[in-house]
Amino acid sequence: MANVTVIGAQWGDEGKGKLVDWLSNRADVVVRFQGGHNAGHTLVVGDQVYKLSLLPSGVVQGKLSVIGNGVVVDPWHLLEEIAKLGGQGVAVTPELLILADNACLILPLHKDLDQAREKAAIKKIGTTGRGIGPAYEDKVGRRAIRVADLADREALIAKIDRLLAHHGPLRRGLGLPEADGAALLAELEVIAPKVLPFAKPAWLHLNELVRAGRRVLFEGAQGALLDVDHGTYPYVTSSNTVAGQAAAGSGLGAKATGYILGIVKAYTTRVGEGPFPTELFDEIGQRIGEVGKEFGTVTGRARRCGWFDAALVRQSVALNGIAGIALTKLDVLDGFATLKICTGYRLGDQEFSYLPAGLKAQEQLVPVYEELEGWSDSTQGARSWRDLPANAVKYVRRIEELIGAPVALLSTSPQRDDTIMMRDPFAD
Ligand code: GDP
Ligand code: IMO
Ligand code: MG
Repeated sequence: MANVTVIGAQWGDEGKGKLVDWLSNRADVVVRFQGGHNAGHTLVVGDQVYKLSLLPSGVVQGKLSVIGNGVVVDPWHLLEEIAKLGGQGVAVTPELLILADNACLILPLHKDLDQAREKAAIKKIGTTGRGIGPAYEDKVGRRAIRVADLADREALIAKIDRLLAHHGPLRRGLGLPEADGAALLAELEVIAPKVLPFAKPAWLHLNELVRAGRRVLFEGAQGALLDVDHGTYPYVTSSNTVAGQAAAGSGLGAKATGYILGIVKAYTTRVGEGPFPTELFDEIGQRIGEVGKEFGTVTGRARRCGWFDAALVRQSVALNGIAGIALTKLDVLDGFATLKICTGYRLGDQEFSYLPAGLKAQEQLVPVYEELEGWSDSTQGARSWRDLPANAVKYVRRIEELIGAPVALLSTSPQRDDTIMMRDPFAD
């Protein structure tokens, strides 16, 4: 039995949360390994809606959940999310949640910097404004405060000094008030006793679990095209979002990633700025957005919508080593007379089967489309492959052909159980 790594194959919001929740009853432990509370994962179970940003989606099913070292953690947000879930009847205790003691913290000064930069920028990234980028900068710059430091007042004092020496000039340059080190120390000391009970060497626990034959489900956040190396740079997030990061961001060996399941939306969306070759600016895009309820979970922003881009997902299959996909939101395409799929791009007289690295090229690519007939029957809530209209089956088969990966799972509504399984990723 393999582990499973769930990864977004487009620009995020593909439905990772729903699939991780659905798959988590087959797993023993669910692990977040990158990103932070920029993620917004929505789970619908009956009339309950759970919106998770930082906690692994497995907590809702009462699975052991791990926030790995690769995640940047806003400890105030963590406590809020735990409290919110508590209010929905999900008790997140230190028995259920392990927070890597070597994960780096997001502090208020990171959020300040993120928001002030976006405000001052001529070309905005369109970040979630939650301090993700600046927190990763401090991690790589070897200045970050880590979870374990919360237990060590001396370390905290020294690290705050070091951090403020770096942030002082940045803040002044952006017209922000001086950061107050003593106040930050006091705030951290208030939350430390609430956060520290969750803090453990996550890598050690995970290695012991794997050795004991337990099944790990890795939950990716964002999507491959938001990866800091492979995405539409600089319009990306600040972590590696591809499957390879699951090992580094949790402290398990590279083999642990197991079956890599790409989550793929039946069309394309993007929230925030940056290139998007198949974006639709007409009433079709508007209709997809309305039917698909394409509004950001974290910021409430309307997501940009467009046709399915097979070239992009084919690239994602390669970058992640995707073995199979979960295709989501097929129901949103119900009732279209025709559908388009992008198979590649043109740039002047050049043809591309992938997204070239240059930003200017990415912005100027012209998609090459093929047209498929739509279907008028509903696929919404279908729980069997046999219930799908013939043209919906054709659409799915064509996607498989173009991206070079099979559909393992098909999601037909936001509800947990409206999911069709063609092959069990854990059994592969
Ligand atoms: P994530 O960030 O990848 O977890 O995705 P989000 O939760 O941000 O966005 C996906 C949205 O689509 C959520 O509101 C889900 O409830 C919803 N959703 C997931 N799968 C389906 C599906 O198959 N059909 C429809 N109509 N909605 C879905
Ligand atoms: P989930 O896990 C979609 C986008 C932001 C912005 C860029 C950088 O729900 O799929 P950041 O705050 O990370 O520095 O913003 O990345 N972004 C997401 N877009 N889904 C997400 O997460 C995202 N997380 C970040 O909109 O364009
Ligand atoms: Mg989301």
